[in-house]
Amino acid sequence: MKIGILTSGGDCPGLNAVIRGFCKFVLNQMDDVELIGIIDGYYGLINNETRILKKEDLSGILNVGGTILGTSRQPFSLMKDEDRNGVSKLDKMKETYYKLNLDCLVTLGGAGTHKTAGLLSAEGLNVVGIPKTIDNDISGTDVTFGFHSAVDIATECIDRIHTTAASHGRTMFVELMGNKVGWLTLFAGIAGGADVILLPEFPYDPSSVAKSVRKRAEEGHAFNIIAIAEGAMSKSESKLKKSERIAYRGGEISSTKALATYIEKNCGVETRIVVPGHLQRGGNPSAYDRILSSEMGSFAGRLVLEKKYGTTVAIKDNKITFNKLKDVAGTLKYIKEDNQMVNIARGLGIDIGDGKKFRLK
Ligand code: F6P
Repeated sequence: MKIGILTSGGDCPGLNAVIRGFCKFVLNQMDDVELIGIIDGYYGLINNETRILKKEDLSGILNVGGTILGTSRQPFSLMKDEDRNGVSKLDKMKETYYKLNLDCLVTLGGAGTHKTAGLLSAEGLNVVGIPKTIDNDISGTDVTFGFHSAVDIATECIDRIHTTAASHGRTMFVELMGNKVGWLTLFAGIAGGADVILLPEFPYDPSSVAKSVRKRAEEGHAFNIIAIAEGAMSKSESKLKKSERIAYRGGEISSTKALATYIEKNCGVETRIVVPGHLQRGGNPSAYDRILSSEMGSFAGRLVLEKKYGTTVAIKDNKITFNKLKDVAGTLKYIKEDNQMVNIARGLGIDIGDGKKFRLK
């Protein structure tokens, strides 16, 4: 059996652990298997850039961040665009797949990667996906690998900000990644004891945030920790299109600066903004992610052996399972209003940007 494997989109801790888990599993199950590592994600499939993966390549990578195969972003929206010879990236990927004589392709990636995997599957290729991302936004799975490592890193950032915020009596904004969803900010915000957590799914009211800051001052707290997702937006910003929002913020991608300025003016506090950025994607996977990655990688190996193609690995209610690519590719998993962790945050008195409290009915 000849299997291609690639890692695509933004990297995260756990990619190498999944590569290792998948490859070790199939090598231990089958005598005649060839593993083809595809370089830099779909770029390598488009341009036929590959390397053979041997058993030796799998040693010493379980705890190493990044990906030994490299990765790149190849927008789904451009996959069908034709070059001047009338050939699209999709055509080229199919050509490489057949030229390499692959029996199947395993794709480790996030929402965009899954969309392309779904497209390749619809075009007749045998594809198995594995859900990766620090954003935790892939539909049909409770968790993606990489997410909990990022939560650990983001929590440590908040912990470190806590002490300096307290020393100086400042209101500190910690802006966390997550693209269009707030999972990372919600989890790290709770773990780090943030006073306010602002998420893209719940557009905030700046006056509610100001009220929370003033209330803490009345209760004798001179400092505040505001965990804000990079995709968070105020109620008025949420009515605008993305380009209009950026113009409204004076060219800023996130709303953090505008909110910090508002809070300084309206609460008379000193603010600082901290953006941990790609630190959240770097470094070693946590123990949890090493286990999850080994589990997901091995399970993908099982799907391949059982020829359950057109699928992607998932965890539902703590059990490993799979979804059909066509059912989940192209839809994002957003935080819903009745999410348990949102209720927990509200129940702890954390302001989610609207001052709502959680009370048992
Ligand atoms: O999808 C992972 C992610 O880290 C997002 O949280 C973030 O918005 C984006 O990737 C950053 O992308 P890049 O690494 O291309 O700057």
